[in-house]
This record gives sequence, C-alpha cells and structure tokens, in this order.
Amino acid sequence: MSDIYPVNPDIAAKAHADNEKYLEMYKQSVDNPEEFWGEHGKRIDWFKPYTKVKNSSFDGDVDIRWFEDGTTNVAYNCLDRHLEKRGDQVAIIWEGDDPSESENITYKDLHQRVNKLANAMKAQGVGKGDRVTLYMPMIPEAAVAMLACARIGAIHAIVFGGFSPDALADRIKGSGSKMVITADEGLRGGRKVPLKANADLAMDREGVESCIVVKRTGGDIDMKDGRDVWYDEVTAAASADCPAEEMNAEDPLFILYTSGSTGMPKGVQHCTGGYLVYAAMTHEYIFDYHEGDVYWCTADVGWVTGHSYIVYGPLANGATTLMFEGVPNYPTVSRFWEVCDKHKVNIFYTAPTAIRSLMREGKEPVEKCSLDTLRVLGSVGEPINPEAWNWYNEVVGKGNCPIVDTWWQTETGGILISPLPGATALKPGSATRPFFGVEPQLVDNDGNVLEGATDGNLCMTTSWPGMMRTCYGDHERFKQTYFSTYAGKYFTGDGARRDEDGYYWITGRVDDVINVSGHRMGTAEVESALVAHAKVAEAAVVGAPHDLKGQGIYVYVTLNAGEEPSDELKKELVKWVRQEIGPIASPDWLQWSPGLPKTRSGKIMRRILRKIAEDDFDALGDTSTLADPGVVDELIENRQNRQ
Ligand code: WT7
Repeated sequence: MSDIYPVNPDIAAKAHADNEKYLEMYKQSVDNPEEFWGEHGKRIDWFKPYTKVKNSSFDGDVDIRWFEDGTTNVAYNCLDRHLEKRGDQVAIIWEGDDPSESENITYKDLHQRVNKLANAMKAQGVGKGDRVTLYMPMIPEAAVAMLACARIGAIHAIVFGGFSPDALADRIKGSGSKMVITADEGLRGGRKVPLKANADLAMDREGVESCIVVKRTGGDIDMKDGRDVWYDEVTAAASADCPAEEMNAEDPLFILYTSGSTGMPKGVQHCTGGYLVYAAMTHEYIFDYHEGDVYWCTADVGWVTGHSYIVYGPLANGATTLMFEGVPNYPTVSRFWEVCDKHKVNIFYTAPTAIRSLMREGKEPVEKCSLDTLRVLGSVGEPINPEAWNWYNEVVGKGNCPIVDTWWQTETGGILISPLPGATALKPGSATRPFFGVEPQLVDNDGNVLEGATDGNLCMTTSWPGMMRTCYGDHERFKQTYFSTYAGKYFTGDGARRDEDGYYWITGRVDDVINVSGHRMGTAEVESALVAHAKVAEAAVVGAPHDLKGQGIYVYVTLNAGEEPSDELKKELVKWVRQEIGPIASPDWLQWSPGLPKTRSGKIMRRILRKIAEDDFDALGDTSTLADPGVVDELIENRQNRQ
C-alpha cells in the first residue's frame, strides 16, 4: 500500500476543479471531445473562429488537425489581447544569475519589444514559414525572440545553450534555418558560456545568412560583416508597430529537436492553435493558476517545458511568469528559496534532479527562507522518488502545498498525466490521472490491451489538441516512430503501471532512450559520437542508476587494435563526447571492454550490459545465445559501478 495524501479542502474550495468537477469534465472530454474542446478552444482569441474542432486519425497516414479552419496568432494571444486589462501588469520577472540583477517586464513593455524585434527580423528578410534557430541564454530576449517569430509566422527552433557547435549545426541544417538569434555569452553559476563563438562554428559550417546577437556579458566576440548584427541596434531602429500575422490553427509554431532510440534527433513540430489552447488550459488547471499569482518554472527555454510552461501557457493566461538565468546552487544552495521569497512565488515547478541535489544540502538552506507564499509545487522530467517527494512536500511545501507530478514529453506539447491540486489525492511517485481529453492505454509487447491494475507499455488512443503534428520534413519517420509499434495508437516509449485506483506510475523508458537529469539522451547518439573517435572500434551505451541524475551514462568502449587503455584516454574520450554533443552527454562511467556481448548474428545484447551497469549481474538472464559467453565474466569483473 502506498501513502495517500488527501486533497486539502481549503485548496479544493478555491481551485478551478475539485474532484467532482474533474470527473465530470474528464467524462465530457472523452465522451464528447467535439463539444468539450469546441468550448475550451474559445479560451484563446481567434481572428476567424473555427467551425471544425477535431479531425484526427492515428491510422494510415496519421493526420492530426484541431480547429482546422480557425485562424489566430500566438503572440497576439500572449500579448495584445492582454494590453487593455493588464498592460501594466508584470508579464516576465527576470532573475539574473547574479542575485543583484533582476528586471520586471510589463505586458506593454514586452509587446513593444516583441514588435520591434519582429520588424527587425522582417527587415532581414525573415517571413511566414521561415525557420529561425534560437541559441540563447535564459534572458528576456529569449522569450522576446520566440514571440517575435510567432508574431510574423516564422517557425522557431530553439537549441539548448549547452549543446555543442556540431549539435547546433545539425539542428540548423535539419530545420533549414536562415537566421540564428544568439547572445555574445551566456552566464550560469558565475561561468560564461561561449554562445556566439559556438554559433560561429555552426553558422560557418551551414552558411547561415543572418544572425542577431544580444549583448549579455559584453565579452569579446567576432561579428561577421554582412551576417551578424547587434540586437540593440536593429531593434532601436525598428518600429514598435508590427501587425500579428494571421495564422491557420495548423500552421507550425515551432520545431524542437529531441532524442529518440535511433538516428539523429527528430524535429518535433508543434502547431499554432491546438498547442496554445492546450498549453494554456493545462497551465491553468494543473497548477491551479489564478489571477495575480506569481508562477515560476525553473526549466530552460531550450526544452519543451520552457516553451509550454515558461512562455506560451502562462503568457496566454495573462500570468506573471518568472524566468531564471542561473542555477540552483549559485551563489549558495539557498538560491531557489531566496528567489521564491524575493518575488513572492506562489507556484513553483522544478525537476526531481534539482530536488535531489538540494535535498543533499539538508533543511537549513531552505529553512532560512520563509517560503510562505508557496501554494502549489510541481515536478517534471523523470519519475520522482518517494524520498525526494517527501522532502519536497515537508521541507519546501511545509506539508501545505499539493505536489503535481506532471508526466509528459516533448512530443505531447503539454502535460498529459498529472494531479490537479484541488481534485486529486496524491500518492508520492505517481503522476496519477489523465488530463481532460487524454486517453491512456496500457498494452503488452504484442499490443494486447491490458485492463485494470497492471504493468504495460503506455500508449494514447486518441489525439489531444497540443500533440505534435509531424517530424519536421519527415512524416514517414513520425508514423514509424510513434504509430507503428502498436498500430493505430501513439506509443510514448514509456512503461507504466496502473494501480487499483486507476493511477498511473511511470516506470521509465522501454526503448534505448535514457533520462539524465530529466534530459533525454539517445544511447545511439552517444555511441556514434564515441565511434567517431579515431581510437575507438566499438561502443555501447546504457543508462545506470545515478543518485543525483536519476540515470547516468554508462559506456563500454572497445579500442582499435594496438590502442592501449589509460586514464588519460578515458578523460580524452569523455571530453570528446562533451565536444561532439555537449556537456549533458558526458559519460559518468567508462569501462574498457575488449569484447561486447553479442548474439551469434552480431547484435549487441544491451539487456546484459544494462544489468552489469546496474551492478545487478545475478539477474543477467539467459546468456546461452551469446557468441562468446566468456566476455560477460570479464565485463562483470571490471565493472565501474560497484555498490
Ligand atoms: C520523457 C520525456 C516534458 C517534460 C520534460 C521532459 C520522462 C517526463 C515525467 C514524470 C516520470 C517523466 C518520460 C518521458 N518523464 N516527466 N513526471 N514522471 N517520467 O521531456 O525530454 O521529451 O522527455 O521524460 O520518460 O517519456 P522529454
């Protein structure tokens, strides 16, 4: 039996939905999606109202459309429509890496900045349908750039600032971006990140036409004549009046690259209308957002969480959203809590990996702050272990703040499974129940539908407005990746358990994707980076339990004949992967393996490598099909991850 935390009646009384309301709305949303979303689609403003609501099929060619004959504009909905009522309200509270730096940006001010950048981009030849890559630190200009793209109908593709020049170049190429927006340098935890220098390497490789550069640190960088311009200069010269382009509901809003089990990361493509309706509605109900609340999501805009729950959802709702440039432990491990007090944060949304790392520092750094404005806490990115959940609940939330453990993916655009603060009794570690319109299903490996309390592969049987529409430029891959494993269903790649109360417990990826500090990493990507090194013959990468990161990256490397393993070479290979992909792909353990366990047909048996990396080699299972069972003993003998 797991612990249950009943809903706090005071919270239920004021919440957008108590349990009864949740059940009623959920039922309506699945019994009659047309009516339900036809009504809730009106939460955003439409230039031309839709007459059709849902038109989607997970069979055949997989075609997903919502509100398909409606037109609107995302920037208009996040800015213009709020001006009359809340022009002087703060839209973005920006908190710098250095605690002495912060800024409040009102809706009026944000609207002006977006219009100016939008005009500056137009002047550089960017228009509707063009792709623009953003490689930005967490500064207000990142949100301004996203909204400026949305305003003129350009499609942004954000690349997280921790990615390498090569990874950036691959994404510029994949999206066919003609413009890059970046900053001279980023600033995180007192350290500089050479964004423009990295972008230069990538832009040179891809022949990018134009680049707008924000001055953040004033660091010394190269500006290439005819290509690079300063943000301050081009926006100062631009008019603050830029009409919002009329976009069809299904026109793309952004592309975001994410790792899968094979090949190059996929360009997940999200649309305009359904995405915004879903981001805004989930933000309101799941965080129980109310007028006047200060809301803080600690993610980076380089990930989907930053798209949906720092920028689009909150701004569509007219919220005050906090954007934080720094890291949880700089200058001290109280930083998160100091920021909560400084800006009177009511809703706080972070990742289990951050909670675990702060939990290690004990209660004192939290308890010296008051945290009395907090009302709702959120978690995202990976399963939250009960120990971290309890600490979050007791030490941060003082037992008074419901924790919403939100399960979703880059592909889903918004949260699919989560408690609602006023409706759902909580069980630590469970993402609990589906949001409105979401119909999860568990299936076995043969695709048989499983009923009742059971374990299985997590699928969705029908579309919701915020889901991805295709892989950019590769619809075949979209179909293949998500709809071919179990025909007619969207397969999430996650395993899950459903308990006797119908609550979902996400058990983790069932494919070759690992989750490192809430960031998704394809093992194949790390492998291909390793084998690109001149001394490496073969590499296999698996995830292994890691105290802070959830999963760490465990690599097995076979060197070319004549190469000798050494600590120096180990360091060189770790550095190599960081350079090839970025610091988030740094191997945590590296084991030299003269041989890898393979079947007689030459297929690497990852199941065995995973078990060895987990230090769980008593459960290796059947090794009799191996070409050379002897390699297993050798690998166990030299494993790196001894408990
Ligand atoms: C994968 C998606 C979407 C937010 C950031 C990650 C895992 C995400 C949870 C959660 C258990 C979770 C899943 C999912 N995941 N949230 N609350 N509990 N697992 O987005 O990079 O697309 O990764 O993150 O495995 O498939 P992403």
